[in-house]
Amino acid sequence: MSATMISGKEISAKLRLSVKAQADALRAKGVVPGLAVILAGDDPASAIYVRNKEKACEECGFYSEKYVLPAETSQDELLSLIAKLNADPRIHGILCQLPLPAHISEQAVILAIDPAKDVDAFHPVNVGRIMTGDYDFVPCTPAGVMAMLDECGIDPKGKHCVVVGRSNIVGKPMSMLLLHRHGTVTICHSRTKDLADVCRSADILVAAVGKAGFITADMVKEGAVVIDVGINRTAEGKVVGDVCTAEVAEKASYLTPVPGGVGVMTITMLMQNTLKAAEKQSAGV
Ligand code: GUN
Repeated sequence: MSATMISGKEISAKLRLSVKAQADALRAKGVVPGLAVILAGDDPASAIYVRNKEKACEECGFYSEKYVLPAETSQDELLSLIAKLNADPRIHGILCQLPLPAHISEQAVILAIDPAKDVDAFHPVNVGRIMTGDYDFVPCTPAGVMAMLDECGIDPKGKHCVVVGRSNIVGKPMSMLLLHRHGTVTICHSRTKDLADVCRSADILVAAVGKAGFITADMVKEGAVVIDVGINRTAEGKVVGDVCTAEVAEKASYLTPVPGGVGVMTITMLMQNTLKAAEKQSAGV
């Protein structure tokens, strides 16, 4: 089998047009969706992601503010900035790019963001709502994966969905979203026994490990759908995923490329969440 590559770029282009049209309709009522992005420290990959988020705001007709803070910024200074943005009516969504400098508590920052403006869906209120299925904001990367599956007509219902990775940002919420759609979900991690066997039993395999080339063809069932969430930089500076793309493409039915796959969808889902935040806040709900 030779896999169909699912283009995050193409799906995103279509979805962003729809976000822009909805933002235009909101602007006609006097509301411009506003996103504040905070970058603390000098992680080069984070700087690229933040730039791409700014560009996406321009493309969708959003108002955006970017705060680039030096690595020495204190936690109190960062929390003060968040408090100011929580109170700013032009700002509907706040995103603080992770990872943070080591002296700043990620949890303190996540807790400081008003849950109504938490377009990452990292606040425990929003995490809890994802558990129950009663959510406004879906974490952007898992939401992007679901949008790709939907676009390709791939229904998780009744399928064995194996998620490799148990992070708060991807693995855990990804599992919940698949479960809400009636998938039978297994979460694997570094201590899973017989990981390759579990992966081989997947109808839908989501790789969110953060290790280049972790998923090899022998771990994939013939005809499986393989979603590569990894963004890894090789020693030569090349961006690659968690999946050995060339060999897995020979076995999978669908596969997402890196770059041009899940990564671009993540940013598109951030735009959807920001639009939703603006709609809800302007309606006073
Ligand atoms: N760092 C890596 N992914 C993300 C994300 O989705 N949101 C934030 N805030 N930081 C990240």
